[in-house]
Amino acid sequence: MNRRTFLKRLFGGIITLFGLSGGTYYYAREMEPNMLDIHDVNIYSSKTPSAFEGYKILQFSDTHIGFQYTINQLEELVVKINQLEPDLIVFTGDLIDNPRTYDIDERLISTLGRLKAKDGKFWIYGNHDHGGYGTDILRDVFQQSGFELLQNGHRQIDKNGDMIYLAGLDDALLGKPDIEQALNGISNEQLTILLAHEPDYADVTKDYPVDIQLSGHSHGGQVQIPFIGYIYTPHLAQKYVEGNYKIGSNPLQLFVSRGVGTTRLPYRFFCKPEITMYQLKKS
Ligand SMILES: [Fe+2]
Repeated sequence: MNRRTFLKRLFGGIITLFGLSGGTYYYAREMEPNMLDIHDVNIYSSKTPSAFEGYKILQFSDTHIGFQYTINQLEELVVKINQLEPDLIVFTGDLIDNPRTYDIDERLISTLGRLKAKDGKFWIYGNHDHGGYGTDILRDVFQQSGFELLQNGHRQIDKNGDMIYLAGLDDALLGKPDIEQALNGISNEQLTILLAHEPDYADVTKDYPVDIQLSGHSHGGQVQIPFIGYIYTPHLAQKYVEGNYKIGSNPLQLFVSRGVGTTRLPYRFFCKPEITMYQLKKS
């Protein structure tokens, strides 16, 4: 940890200690985690084919159901997402906080099953999905809910004679990510979007023919202090924490979602839950 990061965390910790009292504490624990930002983001690329101009990709991430986020909230989220009428839905990891202790039932499967997208629903593993013996459990949940898993693989999305690629990586912390396999057979000419749970993996991705990476995992730090920013983010979400980044000379466009749920601490402060509706545009 460098000096700047250390001081930032030290000051952040002190302010949090004094600031998160009374009303602020109530707000961070009971109110902000229940809010939702629906973030609209245009992604510009010279490789966007004409048929995909305005194409709508909805990303939701890091629900961590069973920690603070509930199945009732997921049901409300599904209604909101369907109202936005996305072309594609992508889930970028960490559905359940602890698959070993969470009781998965038909309600979870039918709720995810109600999500509707014209060209399909895709998901990738996050570290919590692999953790607690979740690998097989989560595969079944998503399969039964009509989601397609992208685990070091890709899918061609066709529209009116044009096409793009959607690729997905296995989790970088507890899985076996293999970007070469994920992109195997992809043509450099076509727009390629990679789903990767951990945003800092973008430093690997940038050397591959990927135009756009969508990630989660950081939760935006969950607690952000005015003028200081986030205090803590997990491993592989320390360099790229939220929003968009241009990386490398190609450049790779990275978008990091703050996610929907919480983990470790049941608080959000100046870091509202979010889902993102991306629209592809030709630049
Ligand atoms: Fe994660």
